[in-house]
Amino acid sequence: MASRLMALWDWFDARMPSVGEEFRKHMSEYYAPKNFNFWYFFGALSILVLVIQIVSGIFLTMNYKPDAALAFGSVEYIMRDVPGGWLIRYIHSTGASAFFVVVYLHMFRGLLYGSYKAPRELIWIFGVLIYLTLMGEAFMGYLLPWGQMSYWGAQVIVNLFSTIPLIGPDLAIWIRGDYVVGDATLNRFFALHVVALPLVLLGLVAAHILALHDVGSNNPDGVEIKKVKGPDGHPLDGIPFHPYYTVKDLAGAVLFMAVFCVILFFVPEMGGYFLEYNNFIPADPLKTPAHIAPVWYFTPYYSVLRAVPPLFNSQFPGVLAMGIATLILFFLPWLDRGTVKSIRYRGGLYKSALAIFVFTFLMLGYLGTEPVTVWGQAGAWLGNADRATVAARIFTVLYFAFFFLMPWYTARDKTRPVPERVTM
Ligand code: HEM
Repeated sequence: MASRLMALWDWFDARMPSVGEEFRKHMSEYYAPKNFNFWYFFGALSILVLVIQIVSGIFLTMNYKPDAALAFGSVEYIMRDVPGGWLIRYIHSTGASAFFVVVYLHMFRGLLYGSYKAPRELIWIFGVLIYLTLMGEAFMGYLLPWGQMSYWGAQVIVNLFSTIPLIGPDLAIWIRGDYVVGDATLNRFFALHVVALPLVLLGLVAAHILALHDVGSNNPDGVEIKKVKGPDGHPLDGIPFHPYYTVKDLAGAVLFMAVFCVILFFVPEMGGYFLEYNNFIPADPLKTPAHIAPVWYFTPYYSVLRAVPPLFNSQFPGVLAMGIATLILFFLPWLDRGTVKSIRYRGGLYKSALAIFVFTFLMLGYLGTEPVTVWGQAGAWLGNADRATVAARIFTVLYFAFFFLMPWYTARDKTRPVPERVTM
């Protein structure tokens, strides 16, 4: 059997040698640092979740109807009547949240080990583009079930565009294809969610990985392994990606799938955090839900939006702050003036800034899921603002401080000497 397979491969290889060459270049002869740790699972897991989303999405599309009169019913039909439909739907809706979990952890690894620093700026930029595309993909996907939260969430977010001076109102109509969110909006969001954005995502992921393989991976020590090569020309601290890391990533994938299945089979809606309860009520343009909140992965930015007070009755300052909060990520490689990459050799300033940033991001995320009145009134000394709004304002300032003060605190940080070779 093995020799037959080898013969088949030889036949194929003689006719299309580029497949073997690419496999060697990107897998069996791609030398990755030998000290990858837990944090290095999440790139491969992001690919896994991307595949899960595309495959489950294809099956959902077989029964879903992108029509404002039929969409909600078609999703209920998938959940109740299509054999295995409930499983496919929950795989896709839980997969959306899992995608953001792994991508957030993947991005956090970048912050831990300075993976965005030279020469890996392009990998990071492609990453931020992936992140923004993913947000668009998730936002448009959430409209498709045509539930109350789909409808009103889209209404709120698209209306944000109308606050942009001069072009705003026309831009919002152009996005919706109507004066309110309607059938035209549903149709275009469907086209973008199912065809256009997945193609963009796949292209960006390819660019992300090609850029990575051109310069080579960073590692938990932030040491450039290409600097120390053996007589065979390969980095002394590198090991071939295949089979060493394919096997390691496979183990990570099994573990991830175990956790994913537990959530999928026992808490697929995650108490309203993955699929909001209001979304099990059909969209009603005449009935606004009392508390409109986006899904958890958007809530840190939603908090920033709510924290910034309107100016001359316009919400534009909040929208601008939210835009800057996401776009600032592009500039991280140039904001960080630190001379070392990894947190292991950084000083107290960066470590504290990162710890405060993580807490800030989590708090903004939490506050964004709650109504602004959740903690009651703050008292006269704060102009009777809501306590939660005051907290969101403080955390918004801290969020921006992490980025805008970065050139200052990274340049002054007392770093430790980085070793020549990786440590294990
Ligand atoms: C669909 C989403 C994504 C996929 C499939 C993906 C895939 C990958 C893979 C397979 C790797 C190499 C393995 C690893 O280092 O874990 C990687 C590395 C990297 N990714 Fe992503 N990624 C995604 C999103 C992002 C995002 C959103 C960012 C940041 C904004 C990002 C930043 C990076 C960086 C900086 C590296 C190099 C890490 C290092 O060498 O230390 N990625 N990515």
